[in-house]
Amino acid sequence: MTAGDPAGAPPPDVGSLRLVTLAERPDLADALSDHNGAPWPEFMFQDPVVNALWHHLEEEFAPWQRMLLEANDRIAAAANCAPLSWDGTSEGLPDGWDDQFTRSVALMRAGMPTDTLGALQIVVADRWRGAGLAGRMVRSMMAAGRAAGHRALIACVRPTDKHRYPLVPIERYARWTRPDGEPLDAWIRLHVRLGGRIDRPAPRSMTMRGTVADWERWTGLTFPGSGEYVVPFATRPVTIDLASDTGTYFDENVWIVHDLS
Ligand SMILES: CC(C)(COP(=O)(O)OP(=O)(O)OC[C@H]1O[C@@H](n2cnc3c(N)ncnc32)[C@H](O)[C@@H]1OP(=O)(O)O)[C@@H](O)C(=O)NCCC(=O)NCCS
Repeated sequence: MTAGDPAGAPPPDVGSLRLVTLAERPDLADALSDHNGAPWPEFMFQDPVVNALWHHLEEEFAPWQRMLLEANDRIAAAANCAPLSWDGTSEGLPDGWDDQFTRSVALMRAGMPTDTLGALQIVVADRWRGAGLAGRMVRSMMAAGRAAGHRALIACVRPTDKHRYPLVPIERYARWTRPDGEPLDAWIRLHVRLGGRIDRPAPRSMTMRGTVADWERWTGLTFPGSGEYVVPFATRPVTIDLASDTGTYFDENVWIVHDLS
């Protein structure tokens, strides 16, 4: 397990963690929000779909949000997800993360039936990284999907190491393997180990747009000319256009399907 607890205290036993849903513990909504926001750089908070729709996870979708709690109710890991419907084909998958979440909310608002669970995010607290909690959260979402009679858990996965290779197209990156044949990316590897199947890339999974000044504030960089810029923790370069005063970024993800039948 990696260090990382600011207090320096060793985390307690994995076995002592309790799985709860946000519907069971609505008092933890603020703590969950802080936990979920901790690992992300500023530009990742600029997706209009997230900003417009995330509150539904704390409201109508609260029974789907899962947390692993320490004895003192500190959050060790969390998984966000929401149901949607999917025809089971590659073409029928949403365009990406934004489209998946938009579809879930639209179906919920229309009171339409769902047949698939859509994973949205897993965040493990720094002090718990490398302890196997991410796998436990994926399995927990699979169990919830199965219990609801869903056909699959679909995940538009943000590969954790993609930001180290921002110039490599996601189509190639997603297929890179280690000498032992397992996926090179740790997050893709975990999903595949749990039975997930790599489906297709989602090169425009999330979209973040802003003025050049916005992007300078979000990244701490200066963009003196138009062009493509490599930005820390971005999965691909950010496109800066001085003439239109815009910066555009598409988060690159890959679809992974866990069959639940
Ligand atoms: C990705 C994340 C959920 C993994 O959680 P975890 O509980 O540490 O994962 P596990 O203990 O199950 O480890 C899974 C694999 O990832 C590796 N790993 C864990 N954390 C890692 C990290 N931060 N960077 C690279 N690899 C990591 C582990 O070594 C392991 O690979 P191995 O078994 O082949 O050695 C966690 O790092 C995290 O919360 N990251 C920030 C948010 C994020 O990127 N979430 C995923 C996209 S939504």
